[in-house]
Amino acid sequence: MTFPVIGVVGGGQLARMMAPAATALGFELRVLAEGEDVSAVSAVSTSPVGDYKDLQTLLDFAKDLDVMTFDHEHVPAAHLRALQEAGVNIQPGPDALIHAQDKLVMRAAIDRLELPNPAWASVDDVDALVRFGDDTGWPVVLKTPRGGYDGKGVRIVGSAEEAAETADWFAAMSPLLAEAKVEFTRELSALVARTPDGEARAWPVVHTIQVDGVCDEVIAPAQDIPVEVAAAAEDAALRIAAELGVTGVLAVELFETPGTGAGFLINELAMRPHNTGHWTQDGAVTSQFEQHLRAVLNLPLGATDALAPVTVMKNFLGGDNQDLYAAFPQALASEPAAKVHCYGKSVRPGRKIGHVNLVGASTAEVESVRRRAGIVAGIIRDGRVPAEEPPMTFEENA
Ligand SMILES: Nc1ncnc2c1ncn2[C@@H]1O[C@H](COP(=O)(O)OP(=O)(O)OP(=O)(O)O)[C@@H](O)[C@H]1O
Ligand SMILES: [Mg+2]
Repeated sequence: MTFPVIGVVGGGQLARMMAPAATALGFELRVLAEGEDVSAVSAVSTSPVGDYKDLQTLLDFAKDLDVMTFDHEHVPAAHLRALQEAGVNIQPGPDALIHAQDKLVMRAAIDRLELPNPAWASVDDVDALVRFGDDTGWPVVLKTPRGGYDGKGVRIVGSAEEAAETADWFAAMSPLLAEAKVEFTRELSALVARTPDGEARAWPVVHTIQVDGVCDEVIAPAQDIPVEVAAAAEDAALRIAAELGVTGVLAVELFETPGTGAGFLINELAMRPHNTGHWTQDGAVTSQFEQHLRAVLNLPLGATDALAPVTVMKNFLGGDNQDLYAAFPQALASEPAAKVHCYGKSVRPGRKIGHVNLVGASTAEVESVRRRAGIVAGIIRDGRVPAEEPPMTFEENA
């Protein structure tokens, strides 16, 4: 057998969703799991449990792999270098990955590439934060450069007085990243994939809706986006991938800011399949999970065209309903065209446990597709048809 073996560090839903793509192409996928019950374990045949912060565990896992890749960005860079020195093929490599691990390193790189950043500063303490806020205007957004996800590690600081309350964050980590709070009209995501040899392809730019700092819904492609803004966002993502040497899937999260510069600012980078790319499973010629595997293996990439004028992806988080499957008859009957993706995770409030993809035949149907996808996701989350309620915005929630 000459088919490759791919090892994924981390057994979350992203690793899990690589499994069907690996199976289809005949590849073997292995996962280094955080525990016996994590999402990807039931989707692959080999899933040793081990600590990704332990170098020996990583070295053991790397044996017989053709390539090692990731479900998350938290493997220490020093370990990745040690693995490379031991001859392990790591994609993306540590020099690229650092830009997804550390938001201060990322901001500096975006400046270096002369791509559009919000105003930002590395701040060592409350006084430095106050100086930044007084310069750029309040409110400001304060972020932990490392270890944040799903809005954890992001807080809005409304005023110099409020800045005093952030002392505990500086005590835990310093420096922190301060950013101007961007008045965006929408959040967008530009998703691309790149191979070690430098072939790269972009999917259409999508509109992403965050609730409480967590991705809630994606509309693909972003409707009514000016062609030059979409093209510039796609170019920026391809350039970032090339210049930082990214391999595999790269998501560039963007704030749409009409009438200013390029029409967008860059929020952050992720170097792995991304929540804003889940729509590609059912709405694009090649899904981000298949593309990630092809890219890290240095294979020719698949076409990234959308299959329909609109695809909506709606997440469901842990809610009232503990028995997800009990809701399936009602959920599936409510929308036969819906594609349900369940992550096999136990239900905890606010935890990402699945998503629904729904394709629409015309752009005129966007609102209807959103509503119908929301109903399917809501039935699974709550065990009943959801009541009509407008989603909370990031601002209301902050
Ligand atoms: N400078 C900013 N101005 C306005 N809103 C912001 C800013 N930075 C972040 N946000 C809001 O907070 C959300 C989460 O921020 P960010 O993407 O930096 O955090 P994260 O926890 O790393 O997220 P992820 O779950 O994508 O890893 C953004 O999607 C956006 O809605
Ligand atoms: Mg983000």
